[in-house]
Amino acid sequence: MKTSTPLRKRSLLAAALMAAAMTLPGLVQAQAPIVIKFAHVVAEKTPKGQGALKFKELAEKKLPGKVQVQVFPSSQLFGDAKEMEALLLGDVQLIAPSLSKFDRYTKKIQIFDLPFLFDDIDAVDRFQDGPQGQALLKSMTNRGLLGLAYWHNGMKQLSTNKDKLTRPEDVKGLKFRIQASDVLEAQFKALGANPQKMAFAEVYQALQTGVVDGQENTWSNIYSQKFHEVQKTIGETNHGVIDYMVVTNAKWWDGLPPDVKKGLTEAMAEATTYANKLANDINLEDRKKIADAGKARIQTLSKDDVAAWRKAMDPVWKKFEGDIGRDLIDAALKSNK
Ligand code: LMR
Repeated sequence: MKTSTPLRKRSLLAAALMAAAMTLPGLVQAQAPIVIKFAHVVAEKTPKGQGALKFKELAEKKLPGKVQVQVFPSSQLFGDAKEMEALLLGDVQLIAPSLSKFDRYTKKIQIFDLPFLFDDIDAVDRFQDGPQGQALLKSMTNRGLLGLAYWHNGMKQLSTNKDKLTRPEDVKGLKFRIQASDVLEAQFKALGANPQKMAFAEVYQALQTGVVDGQENTWSNIYSQKFHEVQKTIGETNHGVIDYMVVTNAKWWDGLPPDVKKGLTEAMAEATTYANKLANDINLEDRKKIADAGKARIQTLSKDDVAAWRKAMDPVWKKFEGDIGRDLIDAALKSNK
């Protein structure tokens, strides 16, 4: 048929072009972007949630068409119990678990869970920035995990469904949800309480139904998860820290084209500065929102109260000093001014 000739010609031409494109991939502009899945367990309006979104924005700006970053907040893909395995299997490329969740991979990182080690988040920052902190980022490469950055959240507070929470005696015999950390388990045992390891996504319901009596977390996590609505009291203990390590699959990272690796490294550094500046403000704001909501009552501690908590938690240090190393503990102590 007459009319089919130009059509056939066109399709022959298209086929020839496609064949050429396949043999000369350099000529083809439209290479599919590298998809980077970044999964985490907290809400978007938290320091980590904001950091992940900033990283996406910066990475896609620096590497237009080359990367696409997909952020999955609030345990949407899977919870904290599965995220490390998912990263190692290549199901996601970035996660940012709290430093408490790495003790299966390195015992040294348990340092961040020692109660009353750091005076405040600035001290944590100084330690992370120093040689020992930086070395910890690379301490799990033999297990396939490479740390790219530390992100701050803040200091931990305790909450319970009881009326009073200022002295260690107030938590005796109570059940507490904890993150998957042996140090935190020992911490609550030292207080005569019953710790229970549990995924973050399950905490609200466990508090609401009375499966546990209390938990420990930062103001931003308490507020964004509405824990204050199902707890009576929050003791402002500042007894420990929740911070994060942004980690990637070391093999995947090593296989990235150099320009992509460079762009992502820059994006991560800038997102880190951004998120770490925000963290303190978000926690202060969320503390105020919790106070204003008038549900859980915030109880502040006297110097004497703090000394009692320190003393009660003291055995934890001795138990883990061997695994962590005295040198590391001393370096961390030096970061307190
Ligand atoms: C928790 O499990 O309580 C926290 O680690 C959650 C988080 O990522 O801040």
